[in-house]
Parts: sequence; C-alpha cells; structure tokens
Amino acid sequence: MIACNVETGDTVTIERVGVVGGGLMGSGIAEVSAKAGADVVMMEVNAEVAEKSLGRIDKSLARAVERGKLEEAEKAAILDRLNVTTDLGDMADRQLVVEAVTENEDLKKQIFTSLDEIVADDDAILASNTSSIPITRLAAATNRPDHVVGMHFFSPVPVMALMELVTTVMSDEGVEDRAQAFAEEIGKTVIRAQDRAGFVVNMLLVPYWLAAIRMYEAGIASKEDIDTGMKLGANHPMGPLELADFVGLDVTKFVADVLFDEYKEPLYASPPLLTRMVEAGLLGRKSGRGFYNYT
Ligand code: 3HC
Repeated sequence: MIACNVETGDTVTIERVGVVGGGLMGSGIAEVSAKAGADVVMMEVNAEVAEKSLGRIDKSLARAVERGKLEEAEKAAILDRLNVTTDLGDMADRQLVVEAVTENEDLKKQIFTSLDEIVADDDAILASNTSSIPITRLAAATNRPDHVVGMHFFSPVPVMALMELVTTVMSDEGVEDRAQAFAEEIGKTVIRAQDRAGFVVNMLLVPYWLAAIRMYEAGIASKEDIDTGMKLGANHPMGPLELADFVGLDVTKFVADVLFDEYKEPLYASPPLLTRMVEAGLLGRKSGRGFYNYT
C-alpha cells in the first residue's frame, strides 16, 4: 500500500497499479511499484511475452538479492504482488495505470481510449511513459483529459532515480500532485516539465547523442575514443554511442524525429548514419549490433 500525502493535505492511497506493456521500461515500472508495496497488474500482448517480462523482473530482483540489497523473502513477496495479464480489461479496478508500450502514437491513443472505458474509478490517473509523444494528444483520446499525465521514467528503471512528470494545459493540479507523490513513494525524484517534445532530459540528451554520431560519421574520432572521452572527461557512466546503443537506435531516431518535427532545428535532425543503421536493423544492444557488437 502506498500512501500519498498530497500538498493540499489530503491523503490518497494508491494500492492498485496497472502497467500496460512489459518491455524494458514497463517491467521496470512494475518492479519498482511492487517493491514499494503496490498490487501490480502488468499487461502484455500474449502469454509468452508476459512470461518474458516476469522473467526480466525475477532476474532484476535476483540481482538485488545477490548484492545483499533485498531478502529472498522480500523478493517472493514482491513477485506475489505482481500479476500478468493479456486482457486490458484487468485494468478496471486500478487507481493508476502507466502505459509503457512501444512509441506508436496510434497504438497509444487506442490504449488510452480503451482505458478510459475500462478503468472504473473516475479519479484514477492514466499516465504514459512516452519519451516523445505529446501527452495532450493521448489525453484528448479520452473523456477525462484532466486525469492524464506523462510519467517518464529512465532506463534501467530500478536504478535511475528520476521521473519526469509531464503536465498539460488540461491536467488537474490534484492529479499531478498525486502522480508526483506516488513517484516519490516508489523512490524517484520528480522534476516537472510542460508538454513539449523531449520534455527536459531528452531535449538535452538526444542532441548530444546526435552530435556524437555526427562526430563519429565525420571521422573526427573513433567510437571508442568518443565514449572514453565522455566517460573519463565528463564522468558520465556511459559514453554517448554506448548509451544510444543501450536505449536503442530506433528509439534514438524516433525521439530525434519528434524533436525535429516540433522545433525544426538542424540540431535535432537524424544524421544519415543513424538513419541507415536503423534501416539496416542495427538497433543497438537489443538487436545484437549497433555502434558496438553484442553477440
Ligand atoms: N536492475 C536492477 N539493478 C540494476 C540494473 C537493473 N536492470 N542494472 C544495474 N543495476 C544496479 C546494479 O545492481 C548495481 O548496483 P550496486 O552497485 O548498488 O550493487 C548498479 O546498478 C551498477 O550496475 P553494474 O555494476 O552492473 O553496472 P554499471 O556500474 O556499469 O552500471 C548502469 C550500469 C546503471 C546502466 C550505468 O552504466 C548507467 O547509469 N548508465 C547510464 C544510464 C542512463 O543514462 N540511462 C538513461 C537513458 S535515457 C532514457 O532512459 C530516456 C528514454 O526516454 C530514452
């Protein structure tokens, strides 16, 4: 059970959380929510993918046990609070649903329209973990746009301390505060951003990755030297090319395209090398090859 002390003085309890999409981000959001005590239902497209998502969470928790950060009994209790489903209808009794499916606007809109019909509690929060799609468009696909916000987590979710709360011209202040309180309860520091492409972090991070790709493409330095430069020279845990591989080059290009579309500035234009790599299916870690080889 997660008690959220809202600034207004109200105490709201978010006990039942839904996560739509059990990929890298969705399974991480489900994991940290269950770890904080919430009852979590995670939805995936079929039983096989759902099992894979659960396996990812099991592995992440096992790692925490191995490192002495979690007791075996706590791990079992967390897994007990986590259920997977392939039926969006199982979100009916949720008080917060976080959508974390692939970056496809039509798909996300469909999910929000369905959630609006399915989720019974009029006060429930419907959130999206999108990194780039305007929250306003998703909110407009529902009849409760004031209850829709962006909750943008960072990868790997169990490790990264930030959650960007994206508010819109339509979102209700009380809803925003409850979403923030929930994120803080699950251990995240919250920053707020208006609904503009890239929010805060990706608006700064993505052009930096694109600059590194242009630098590599122009032959100014090797990929290893670019990454080592930023790791040792700026104390970043990963270099920009390594990190773009980690996030996925398709995601990187997608966010860059959305930023370019919104601001029309060359800074956000996808370098030809990135475009060609995505067209070739070189998507980074997840496909086994990106700037580096992972096979
Ligand atoms: N689940 C749980 N814990 C994990 C984990 C996971 N998936 N991955 C790593 N950890 C924990 C480890 O247990 C370890 O904890 P400990 O030191 O307290 O025991 C700690 O994180 C460090 O892990 P490792 O020693 O295995 O590996 P590294 O030291 O190389 O760290 C990393 C790995 C945390 C991924 C680090 O390299 C890092 O912080 N990289 C940058 C990540 C980043 O910038 N993410 C943001 C991407 S942008 C984004 O997500 C936005 C999107 O919209 C594009």
